[in-house]
Amino acid sequence: IHNVIFESSNQASIIVAQEIARLIRKKQLQGLPCVLGLATGSSPIRVYEELVRMHKEESLSFSNVITFNLDEYLPMEKNNRQSYWYFMHEHLFNHVDIAPENINIPDGTLIGDDIIPYCLNYEQKIKDYGGLDFQLLGIGRTGHIGFNEPGSHYNSGTRVITLDHITRVDAAPSFLGIDNVPRRAITMGISTVQNARRIVLLGWGQNKADIIKKTVEGDISSEVPATYLQRHHNCTFVLDNGAGSKLT
Ligand code: F6R
Repeated sequence: IHNVIFESSNQASIIVAQEIARLIRKKQLQGLPCVLGLATGSSPIRVYEELVRMHKEESLSFSNVITFNLDEYLPMEKNNRQSYWYFMHEHLFNHVDIAPENINIPDGTLIGDDIIPYCLNYEQKIKDYGGLDFQLLGIGRTGHIGFNEPGSHYNSGTRVITLDHITRVDAAPSFLGIDNVPRRAITMGISTVQNARRIVLLGWGQNKADIIKKTVEGDISSEVPATYLQRHHNCTFVLDNGAGSKLT
């Protein structure tokens, strides 16, 4: 893992958006699709805002972009304001020229026997596109990436996961109470993420400082799933002063 620490998350987000834009344009020139793994939550909002600006002001086109989102709550309706489907459309997809059929977000409306084949198909679809060119990540206080909570296996693929209590506590405000936070989610696995050719993890603010330190400096362990990223050969943690403040 390489760490880059910026004065502000704003400045950092712009650098990350520029990297993504460069990749999209490079693939465009090669006549190839650009396969992006995307995250939701507060961390990537400014990155998406900057990509939208580049689309509007610098003619950055998303016509060759295929996206796979990391996760979605289960159960969750698409048009629910808390859904990751809603989030992605509000912050990115509604404002750029991506083809709707190129957007992949785990389906939180599935029930019963439909879920496992759906997850296997999600995984296969990423492979069929040639794998993820770039994976954007945030990190939860439990050390989750996507919703790969403590206990997640190195070899895990897209699957259903039971959310950690801390994760549900952190989500409670936006759901107006923990009782409204779904107990499960569909998430890409650790191996799905690790297979990306490039990974950028965003970490902002003091309240991420402890988990960032454990992730970067601690032993690799399923207790802090993000530590698996230490084994990736092209992974950068983009941090602000707060999130990087405890690194030695
Ligand atoms: C969201 C996701 C999560 C978040 C993490 C941090 O798609 O995969 O792992 O990245 O929970 O969330 P924020 O950015 O809100 O602190």
